[in-house]
Amino acid sequence: MPLTATPHVVGLATRSGTAALAFNVITLEHAEAIAAACERTGRPALLAVSHNAVRHHGDDPAALVAACAAVARRCRLPLALHLDHVEDPELALAAPGLGCTSVMFDASKLPHGENVAATAEVAARLHTRGVWVEAELGEIGGKDGVHAAGARTDPADAAAFVAATGVDALAVAVGSSHAMTTRTARLDQDLIARLRDAVDVPLVLHGSSGVPDEELLAAVRNGMRKINVGTHLNTAFTGAVRETLAASDRVDPRGYLAAGRAAATDAAAELLALLRPRT
Ligand code: G3H
Ligand code: ZN
Repeated sequence: MPLTATPHVVGLATRSGTAALAFNVITLEHAEAIAAACERTGRPALLAVSHNAVRHHGDDPAALVAACAAVARRCRLPLALHLDHVEDPELALAAPGLGCTSVMFDASKLPHGENVAATAEVAARLHTRGVWVEAELGEIGGKDGVHAAGARTDPADAAAFVAATGVDALAVAVGSSHAMTTRTARLDQDLIARLRDAVDVPLVLHGSSGVPDEELLAAVRNGMRKINVGTHLNTAFTGAVRETLAASDRVDPRGYLAAGRAAATDAAAELLALLRPRT
């Protein structure tokens, strides 16, 4: 079907009391896996291309985003294209030309005042092109920055940040951490509920790969509206690739890529089913 706009996918989830899933795409097989998982579960999702993935593909988003768009068009469920953790305003502003209807602009490495100014400017410019903008209230330092497990977003700061920048969604630090390969994170559920009450835009959970099922379900009950998952699909994908390579001397990449794609499909489908709207 035609590409769907991000606010539509997030809005659908919100109205049904659940959260939209945004899965990170690095290779064509990731996009195919996510589309297959959507079709298996009957749920829409977002295909998220991160700035790091863009760097991996020659610092040019065009080929990977075009591949995602082609996969989305042949998917029978709604898929939206999202640019994730974009640190360069120029890449953020390229979103509409690429067919991306949302951008997570990440100026969290900048000092607070500069983060606010840069985010407000990018949001204002992208809003004139109809693009939905997510951002985060950052802090300096640490490999994981604001998404280190100990980092927390203050509700009053969050409200002030949203008011000052005009963003459409807010990534918050509530106990998750990027790139975890075990699902052992504990979220501050009370803080999620207080953030939900403090800000009037959807809350976004980053680093969701490390969050176990019951914590994800509780986070959604407490108001989380977009759940970002990357590493969890890669754990499944790479595990299957490893097994396939270990079991055979074949050199055709289609063998191990198909195994990786199938494993990533299962992993994405499990999460989509987990966060299915409850009736
Ligand atoms: O923005 C992307 C997500 O925060 C993914 O994090 O790889 O830890 O799931 P993750
Ligand atoms: Zn993230």
